[in-house]
Amino acid sequence: MNTRVTEMLNIMYPIIQGGLAHLAYAELAAAVSEAGGLGQITAMSLPSPDSLRAEIQKVRTLTTKPFGVNFAIGQHDRPYEEMLDVAIEEGIGVISITGGNPEPLIRRTDGYGMKRMVLVAAVRQAQKAEAIGADAVMAVGQEGGGHLGRDDIGTFVLIPRVVDSVNIPVLASGGIGDGRGLLAALALGAEGVEMGTRFIATQECVHAHAAYKQALIQATEHDTTVIKRSLGTPARVVSTKGSEHIIELEKQGVGYEGLREYISGRNNCRFIYDGDAEHGFGWAGQVVGLIHDVPTVQELFNRMMGDVNEFQTIIQKTFQGKP
Ligand SMILES: Cc1cc2nc3c(=O)[nH]c(=O)nc-3n(C[C@H](O)[C@H](O)[C@H](O)COP(=O)(O)O)c2cc1C
Repeated sequence: MNTRVTEMLNIMYPIIQGGLAHLAYAELAAAVSEAGGLGQITAMSLPSPDSLRAEIQKVRTLTTKPFGVNFAIGQHDRPYEEMLDVAIEEGIGVISITGGNPEPLIRRTDGYGMKRMVLVAAVRQAQKAEAIGADAVMAVGQEGGGHLGRDDIGTFVLIPRVVDSVNIPVLASGGIGDGRGLLAALALGAEGVEMGTRFIATQECVHAHAAYKQALIQATEHDTTVIKRSLGTPARVVSTKGSEHIIELEKQGVGYEGLREYISGRNNCRFIYDGDAEHGFGWAGQVVGLIHDVPTVQELFNRMMGDVNEFQTIIQKTFQGKP
């Protein structure tokens, strides 16, 4: 597979593992990169710049392939500057930026030859990212897991809209979990995909509690919900008692102070690390409907490439008028 994304990132498959707060550490990032995609470490889940440096070095003991560092700014009140400087010092070739104004990060990394990818959820954000020097955008549709745009645009419309609006490569994100999704994304004009939820249910996502992985397997596409809409920062979770409680509080109009404890990172970890679905919550997208097992990342990629071959053949036959 050859697109501007595979060329730019020097990877075999145009598949990027999105930032996954509290889950994307060295084991997962290295497994994705080793299997031919681009793995990423999520910087802002780490407690300090030194721990980011250690995590980067750990990935390098596991793979010699390229990997990236994700910066989810805006959701965290901690400063990112020192973390970013560690990524620069360590010679990281690619970062992804989400959740806030990407411009200061892009300016700070100018001149280091680093590729900067920005997660967007609307055409105007993609155009802004291109104007300030992003090398690619990942456009996430409203079916995605974790934080979403406020405009509720689905992947199938968002991707071609963004592709028609910018010249830099576009990666499709939100709702992709198999080779059919990858093929569809390419058909929509994307030059790669970013997947989040699907990577949680893999063997190498070693930090995710078995109950979280099991919840993703058991859930159908009906079993996710959007929390924090009342705060203007909508984000999709797999439904748990904990998430239902948050929605209930939002309906009561309790505001940020009333929600703070329930939507905290600590409460997130209660489910994803401790398996406490009664109180905690875990981000996940509607793609849970397509997740039925916990393969290794390599098995997942093999399967996706099998899908691509199978469905490519079906499409070709369709064009040749054969059933
Ligand atoms: C558990 C979880 C945590 C996430 N944390 C982050 C994060 O820290 N940084 C980020 O840029 N995106 C984060 N995202 C978004 C993903 O990188 C990706 O854009 C999204 O999952 C794509 O949709 P999908 O889940 O349908 O594949 C997270 C998503 C999930 C499911």
